Amino acid sequence: MNVNESSQISDNILTEEISVLPIDHPGARDEEYRVRRNHIARLAGEYRLNPQKGIPIIEYTEEETAVWRHAFTQLDELHRRKACSLYLDAKRRLGLSADAIPQLRDLDRKLSGLTGFHLAPVDGLVETRAFLSLLEKRVMLSTQYIRHHSRPDYTPEPDIVHESIGHIPNLTNEDFADFSQFIGRGARIASEEQLLQLGRLYWFTVEFGLIEEDGGIKAFGAGLMSSYHELERAFSDEVERKAFNLEEVIETNYDYSALQPVLFVIPSYGYIKDVTHGFIESFAG
Ligand SMILES: [Fe+2]
Repeated sequence: MNVNESSQISDNILTEEISVLPIDHPGARDEEYRVRRNHIARLAGEYRLNPQKGIPIIEYTEEETAVWRHAFTQLDELHRRKACSLYLDAKRRLGLSADAIPQLRDLDRKLSGLTGFHLAPVDGLVETRAFLSLLEKRVMLSTQYIRHHSRPDYTPEPDIVHESIGHIPNLTNEDFADFSQFIGRGARIASEEQLLQLGRLYWFTVEFGLIEEDGGIKAFGAGLMSSYHELERAFSDEVERKAFNLEEVIETNYDYSALQPVLFVIPSYGYIKDVTHGFIESFAG
């Protein structure tokens, strides 16, 4: 999930009472897609009321699987060249493949066995503090629907491609899981200004982070790993790549709907875990 921004909804088409798509969403005028989104949203709502029944299993259609296969295959080739080794190992360990859209329930079982992190289904964007605060409990909210088939390379919102190819692999790493938990703890106690700073830290690491590896630079952020265009562009002259500096990162604004002009390179997951721990400790005092 992106942490930002329930504000994307303006000029909405309301589809029954659950799933709301902005008028410029690729699926906004596709009745069948909207019905499907409502169905998956309803399952997430039922889980919220009745979590002991387990994460819903989605029977993905052939058309949805074709969208996944397209996105996965294209990204997989680029990951081999641009993704950090921890990410690549994790993707293998989770068993992600082009053949089938992963079930959140399976990913939750594997992930929780590795780092104790859990996944919980959600039907769309969630307010920043609520979304981040759950990370303190080692829970990440995750969508289960997939982007519209008319634009398989693009989604204006998080979807199962973004969650499972972008976010979930990094959470198999103990340092990254702890770092995420620190962000969650910080979000729970942060002032509004501190929450804004945490949101920037999240953006420039969890979503768009780069990392030093073997004397070079690789990528790990979910927004990069789930977007062919952003990932390729991250290594081009169109992007300024700067060494990670917490003071600078938390004061750097971003535009979630634009291509990113500046990215930050962390030394390691352990490093951002430690600096984030120190940062949020300062909130309390
Ligand atoms: Fe995200």
